[in-house]
Amino acid sequence: MTDQKVAIVTGSSSGIGYETALLLARNGFRTYATMRNLEKAKAISDVAKRENIPLHIIKLDVTDEKSVNDAIKTIKSDAGRIDVLVNNAGYGLTGSLEDLSMSEIKAQYETNVFGLIRVTQAVLPIMREQKSGIIVNISSIGGKMAMPLSSPYIGTKFAVEGLSESIAYDLEPFGIKVVIIEPGAIKTNFDTGMIIAQKSQNPSSPYYKGMQKLQSSLNSMLKNGTPPAKVAEVILNAITTPNPNLRYTVGEDAALLAQKRKELSDSEFQKLVFEFFK
Ligand SMILES: NC(=O)c1ccc[n+]([C@@H]2O[C@H](COP(=O)([O-])OP(=O)(O)OC[C@H]3O[C@@H](n4cnc5c(N)ncnc54)[C@H](OP(=O)(O)O)[C@@H]3O)[C@@H](O)[C@H]2O)c1
Repeated sequence: MTDQKVAIVTGSSSGIGYETALLLARNGFRTYATMRNLEKAKAISDVAKRENIPLHIIKLDVTDEKSVNDAIKTIKSDAGRIDVLVNNAGYGLTGSLEDLSMSEIKAQYETNVFGLIRVTQAVLPIMREQKSGIIVNISSIGGKMAMPLSSPYIGTKFAVEGLSESIAYDLEPFGIKVVIIEPGAIKTNFDTGMIIAQKSQNPSSPYYKGMQKLQSSLNSMLKNGTPPAKVAEVILNAITTPNPNLRYTVGEDAALLAQKRKELSDSEFQKLVFEFFK
């Protein structure tokens, strides 16, 4: 049992999860940096050793029930409590709905939505018993507005928004808070991890041209994106403030888009998106 606050981050091998796990550990959280592939642990482990910060690496694949339950059990018996859960693991899937296979779509939901639910369900009994805790769900600005040829990814992030907002009501009586993070384009491995529907990569697809344009826009957005350390800062701020907001956008692009989405009608906003991706 530890007096330190205990945090878990999923998908800590790179990007937002990597930076968040390090920042929380640097700020005194006993941090469990979880990842599905321990072969990718060296970079974060080297930094943690060099800085002598309380960071522990544990294997956790959000799509595997046993892996999730084993990891949470290990953390509970090691630390005795869980104060913060950052549900970060996720990836992007692009392609037209017509081109996407059901298995590509199901895999996307399995990680981005069911994975998040699986880890949350494993952690909740512990937080509820403690009568405290905070769950930080990494959504996206794409959880508030759509873009073309990304319907499964957008669908998963809209799902994360809705379920997070709903469980915030369920958990309030037990002293558990929920925070939704909505990043814009962030410079991580998100682009290399992104999956493009098999059929949409074939020049015979009626959506091929649109896909080429989308991928080049996405690549340049991500290349010029906000550093992931900025997302980590917003998360640290949210979990250390007494009364966090339900939602935080991260990045100037996300803030501007959120503002436009509020100000404009649906058709005005759609026009803007059409123009952008033309
Ligand atoms: N980058 C952006 O522009 C952006 C914008 C808005 C929201 N987001 C969201 O931010 C989150 C983190 O993405 P990122 O930008 O930091 O990309 P990233 O660098 O590709 O990191 C994604 C992380 O998720 C992990 N992951 C994927 N599937 C997993 C699974 N089944 N179990 C456990 N871990 C798994 C990856 O592990 P491996 O290394 O093993 O693949 C990696 O650690 C995602 O939820 C993403 O949707 C990103």
